[in-house]
Amino acid sequence: MRRRACGFVLAVAVLCRGFGAASPEQSLREAARRSGMLIGAAVRPEQLSEAAYASTLAREFNMVEPEDALKWEVVHPERESFDFSPGDQVVDFASRHDMKVRGHTLVWHRQNPKWLTEGNYTSGELAEILEKHIKAVVGHYRGKIFAWDVVNEAFDELRPGELRHTIWRDQPGIGAVGGGVAAGYEPRTSSNPARPELAARSSQQPYFYIERCFRWAHEADPQALLFYNDAEAEAVNPKSDAIYAMVRDFRERGVPIDGVGFQMHIAKLHADIASISANIQRFTALGVQVHITELDVALPVDAEHNSRPEDLQSQADIYAQIAAACLSHRLSHSGCTAIQTWGFTDKYSWIGSHSKQTEGAALLFDRTYRTKPAYLRLRNALVLD
Ligand code: G3I
Repeated sequence: MRRRACGFVLAVAVLCRGFGAASPEQSLREAARRSGMLIGAAVRPEQLSEAAYASTLAREFNMVEPEDALKWEVVHPERESFDFSPGDQVVDFASRHDMKVRGHTLVWHRQNPKWLTEGNYTSGELAEILEKHIKAVVGHYRGKIFAWDVVNEAFDELRPGELRHTIWRDQPGIGAVGGGVAAGYEPRTSSNPARPELAARSSQQPYFYIERCFRWAHEADPQALLFYNDAEAEAVNPKSDAIYAMVRDFRERGVPIDGVGFQMHIAKLHADIASISANIQRFTALGVQVHITELDVALPVDAEHNSRPEDLQSQADIYAQIAAACLSHRLSHSGCTAIQTWGFTDKYSWIGSHSKQTEGAALLFDRTYRTKPAYLRLRNALVLD
């Protein structure tokens, strides 16, 4: 009797597999493993002691990324001191549960300590501070963090295609502001012997400071994969055009860049999937990997955090379509190799405070760790036919 029941279960499992659906007992990480994909979540170390948080994370994901724990204000609170303990908690958790760790982020215009932003440093001091920071943080996690968001959100939303004004860009800046040559810069030879003229190009680029960050990170851990990460650049648009031009230039000149992260914070239940797919295609054709780094799909919610059933279905469609777009480029060139959500339970998500509690419910698990429609649709999309 038991043997017959097993045979029936097996037949259903085979059928499900045949139609590209995950069998019920599969986790996201099991589905991702079968496709050779990474499935990740941003995490908060202070929540790791919560049993449901920790067990869901370990069961469902094969990659984690500290949501805030490696940002300057946490990891580098004083000019002469670093605090790696929150980041170490995440890395230790990952190691115990056989998960990879992405590092976020070495350079960003937000969540920086006052000693840095109000220090009125000279260009030379600023360059020295940045080099020391990158080498200390990447060096501390050498061999433990496999991929870094080296620079995050350097391009401006409001001035399409242009770099955002930040202390690194222009205050006083360690980059080439207005075409000038940055302080402390030693011209490099081109890493492309056939095109020696490329060597002169680097210090003329407005994103010259970004190049320096990638080179410093590479010196600190030559094995780590180095990513440029940005928001609202997932589709083909002026921002992603500018990032594309920068990455193409980096690849031509041998600047050590391995990938591009598209955040994908989806608002208003709108995602242009065809354009996202075309964008992933053109970046992977440059020979870099694509990671989806901060996926969430915000929904309108009432005062009790409830969302509408039809919105949950639309949200599930978007999760599935984005995963399918990534997987369709999984084997092309360097490929779209990772899908990561920005948190995983609606209990802990930046969307609520960001939207003054008018939006939320953006993730795969509800506030009590029950799976949502988006979970099942994403899991099915992760299983390749
Ligand atoms: O650490 C303090 C804590 O001591 C204090 O008690 C608490 C009170 O509000 O605030 C804590 O700091 C908060 C920090 O997250 C750590 O939790 C900040 O107020 C809060 O502003 C900060 O928000 C983070 C936000 O970046 C900052 O811009 C979110 O958690 C984080 O999810 C979000 O992540 C960014 C990515 O890094 C880059 N892409 C966009 C994404 C969403 O904004």
